[in-house]
Amino acid sequence: MTVAAAFRTGAAALAGAPTDTPALEAAVLLADALGVSKERLFARMAEPVGARGMASFRRAIDLRRRAVPVAYIRGAKEFYGHAFSVDRRVLIPRPDTECLVEAALAVIDADPSVRRVHDVGTGSGCIAIALQAARPALAVSVSDRDAGCLEVCRVNQRRLLGRERLTAQAADLLAGISGPFDLIVANPPYLAAAACARLADRGWPEPIGALRGGRSGAEVTFRLIAQAGGRLRPGGYLLLETAVEHVAKLQAALAAAGFADAAVRRDLAGRPRVVGAKWR
Ligand SMILES: C[S@@+](CC[C@H](N)C(=O)[O-])C[C@H]1O[C@@H](n2cnc3c(N)ncnc32)[C@H](O)[C@@H]1O
Repeated sequence: MTVAAAFRTGAAALAGAPTDTPALEAAVLLADALGVSKERLFARMAEPVGARGMASFRRAIDLRRRAVPVAYIRGAKEFYGHAFSVDRRVLIPRPDTECLVEAALAVIDADPSVRRVHDVGTGSGCIAIALQAARPALAVSVSDRDAGCLEVCRVNQRRLLGRERLTAQAADLLAGISGPFDLIVANPPYLAAAACARLADRGWPEPIGALRGGRSGAEVTFRLIAQAGGRLRPGGYLLLETAVEHVAKLQAALAAAGFADAAVRRDLAGRPRVVGAKWR
């Protein structure tokens, strides 16, 4: 079978699968199976596909038809210009979260005294590693309550930073983490419990614990806000990704906890997604 025929077969097989982009996904999975880039794939359309490449492509298509995300099939997801290793232990990094990285870099660049940065609920490590790679002089640390996440974060540090550079700790939010930090960033779970239960019933492939933010979805973030002041130096910053519907509540919670200058950053679609404030 030629590459073109394999591509057509794969795209057709994915047409009934839970995806809006069957052709694109078939191309990505075929390129991976053949060990070439997507661009190179199109230059090789008339060439034959070897038996091993075809078997690997069929396996990938079969997984995708069973709703396994492309990122888990490939074991990788692009985030802020880096290819992060991902598997079922971690949330797949979202493009939306690049907005939080941008907000953190804006704070870091505006205030040269910001050096000690902590990422709560690090998952794959995407936020912390993107920050450390962009500003190597930072002292970045991470925590997550899930040991599997910390292991994936370690793998990503070795791959993307060349060594295990970030201090990592297993913790429930900031419990047992002393600081002081100049900046705390987090993309905490912020989906309501009922929505998470529906996702779990539908067999959602990502860890539900990475999404479940409490009854309304904001409770985990409220808890984090209550802890964060005690881990920040005076004038330190807290930046939180959240859902649009939680923004006003979080701003109020920040003010009530003693934070000042609460501000909101919008994502590329213009939606308010990052809430930030300064510790008194
Ligand atoms: C929305 S995911 C974000 C992962 C990663 N930072 C990202 O942006 O892709 C939330 C993360 O917080 C972790 N988490 C959930 N509840 C936690 C808690 N109480 N304490 C510490 N980490 C928690 C989850 O294991 C998960 O890795």
